[in-house]
Amino acid sequence: MSVVNASPNAIAEAAEALRDGRLVAFPTETVYGIGADATNARAVAAIFEAKGRPRFNPLITHVTDIDAAARLGEMTQTARRLAAHFWPGALTLVLRRTPACPVADLATAGLDTIAVRVPSHPVARALLAEAGLPIVAPSANRSNHVSPTIAGHVEADLGTRVPLILDGGPTTLGLESTVVDATGAEPVVLRLGAISREDIARALGLDRPVALADALSANPSSPGMLARHYAPATPLRLDARDVRPGEALLAFGREVPQHSGAMLNLSPSGDLLEAAANLFAALRSLDAAKAAAIAVMPIPAHGLGEAINDRLRRAATIP
Ligand code: TXA
Ligand code: MG
Repeated sequence: MSVVNASPNAIAEAAEALRDGRLVAFPTETVYGIGADATNARAVAAIFEAKGRPRFNPLITHVTDIDAAARLGEMTQTARRLAAHFWPGALTLVLRRTPACPVADLATAGLDTIAVRVPSHPVARALLAEAGLPIVAPSANRSNHVSPTIAGHVEADLGTRVPLILDGGPTTLGLESTVVDATGAEPVVLRLGAISREDIARALGLDRPVALADALSANPSSPGMLARHYAPATPLRLDARDVRPGEALLAFGREVPQHSGAMLNLSPSGDLLEAAANLFAALRSLDAAKAAAIAVMPIPAHGLGEAINDRLRRAATIP
């Protein structure tokens, strides 16, 4: 691990690391992020591993400009107006994924929407330009810790887990970006952040406040509240050690029960990082097989297995 001053040389080295599938922590104008190539599912899985997140939350994909954003998500009229006003800057737009969007399913938690942001920090911009990739970057802290605003915070939290930390000094805003759902005609704020609801309303010429998604009023134990998560239509049968007639099989590891129907193995070698990288795409494709149920073999609960099991449990309880 090393913290290096964000010189042009260090940025070039960081861009190469990202292209090689490694993680890099870097400053944005909001908070420091831990970045990976958004198109590389294994690199994205490594982010969840480093953060120790017990859940696969969808991540924000960072790009250089509006055109790059439009390749990933459908820019509605609302999205275009907000982008023109706030980008580069601390606004994240949730958009419908384009058919050609190359971002890994794990980065969007299997959703058909994608959160996109064009950061304004010169180090983030130079890194994006040099890497030539969309970069996913959640805040560079361990899960449940506060977001880092100096490189030293990142080092203290993730120092042993991130090979390279670019030091660009303290971040100016110190608060995460505001996340706005711009898929419909009416924008909805999904996460409050550095740009206020009043600013957003003003940019759109609205004389009423922009809606705020009211997550607190929903029953937090109800999976329905987590509507932002992809849910397969096929029921899941967890901890399956056999396959019943009519079932598809989601396998893990070397010892797989005999099965002639639809089958995918998350990781034949039993590697949890590989399993995480394959999870959402595998659920989607087995869902498409329209089996009576998907039998899911047991997944170990340690490391990334905790998030994998969390995701599977919630997919299994959604009606
Ligand atoms: O300021 C920031 O936004 C920082 C810097 C590094 O850019 N990043 C950040 O990322 O805070 P993260 O992963 O900690 O937060 C991502 C937020 C979460 O609230 C997540 O639920 C939401 O964005 N999000 C991501 N994709 C989404 C989607 N497709 N639909 C709805 N919400 C989404
Ligand atoms: Mg965060």
